[in-house]
Amino acid sequence: MPRIVRPTAYGTPDVLTVLEVPTPRAAADGVVVEVRAAGVNPIDWKLYSGAFHDVDDDHKDAAWIAASMPSIGLECAGVVTEVGVDVTGVQVGDEVVVYPVTAAYADYVTAPATSLIAKPAELGWAEAGSLILTGTTAFHALQVTGVTAGETVLVHGGAGGVGLMAVQLAAAAGATVIATAAERNHALLRELGASPVAYGPGLADRVRAAAPHGVSAAVDFAGTDEALDVSLELVADRSRIASITGSPRRAESGIKVLGYGPGEDAGAEVRAAARGDLVDRAGSGALRVIVDATFPLSEAAKAHEVGLAGHAPGKLVLIP
Ligand SMILES: NC(=O)c1ccc[n+]([C@@H]2O[C@H](COP(=O)([O-])OP(=O)(O)OC[C@H]3O[C@@H](n4cnc5c(N)ncnc54)[C@H](OP(=O)(O)O)[C@@H]3O)[C@@H](O)[C@H]2O)c1
Repeated sequence: MPRIVRPTAYGTPDVLTVLEVPTPRAAADGVVVEVRAAGVNPIDWKLYSGAFHDVDDDHKDAAWIAASMPSIGLECAGVVTEVGVDVTGVQVGDEVVVYPVTAAYADYVTAPATSLIAKPAELGWAEAGSLILTGTTAFHALQVTGVTAGETVLVHGGAGGVGLMAVQLAAAAGATVIATAAERNHALLRELGASPVAYGPGLADRVRAAAPHGVSAAVDFAGTDEALDVSLELVADRSRIASITGSPRRAESGIKVLGYGPGEDAGAEVRAAARGDLVDRAGSGALRVIVDATFPLSEAAKAHEVGLAGHAPGKLVLIP
């Protein structure tokens, strides 16, 4: 029987359970994809951590909670195995990148046809399955902050999944990129065209030294008070600072807050439109997807423990 990994309660990664389920069927406007690689993203563990939890559990029994837990796995790549009756231009056997999707920690997933992009043959499965969520987020952040050639952009969390995408996209656009990261990730960031600086006390001074002509824009993928404070100190125009994570202080400070919470800019159209370009760049080798580690589907909990530790450079990927 095909497998799916789902949380069966709110909590830590040990709530992830491998369940056997029937092979799903395609909706009229959708497809079934045999998953070859599913990208792991922080949203996956946030969904069952309780962070977004607004249900009063005192009034729900354990079976209700188990049945109502969110599915996880918002991106993947794989092979089309069934095509809905209303879908045109997609064939069984097509190799595709799938985003967005809602339950990709599985052997098979259903997706609307609008979520499919053809996978270039040159792009590996792990890379194809973990490219789009971070790539579209990075693209959105650089777009709303208006980063252009000749400018200097500060990227907080430059060695994370989103950060590595933003570093490469900004460098390709002709910007000078200063990226914060732990020391052990500095060589990788240099390779990708950025000037790395260590985060931590004294960050503003280190950035000033690396950017003697000033910083035009900042994108925060770390979500720390330090990232927000240093961005506010160094970037004169607050509309050129964007953050994708962190405390409510971000909204109060007048910067751009990107995401899916109340009052945040989800950038649905910008992100959807960026998918094809990201796949093209990755297929041609112009954009590298850095995969830190792969795990079998049955070790999803282990992948989440590594992710929660917070310092993997690049992507963690499940291979069913
Ligand atoms: N709003 C949205 O649309 C959206 C979309 C995607 C992701 N997100 C959120 O954005 C965040 C980053 O996502 P991700 O996929 O890039 O996560 P990730 O791959 O886990 O990367 C996070 C990176 O943060 C760095 N970091 C840890 N502590 C730091 C510190 N004190 N200062 C600066 N950097 C630090 C780590 O790099 P080092 O190893 O160098 O320490 C790590 O690689 C997550 O909270 C995620 O949920 C939001």
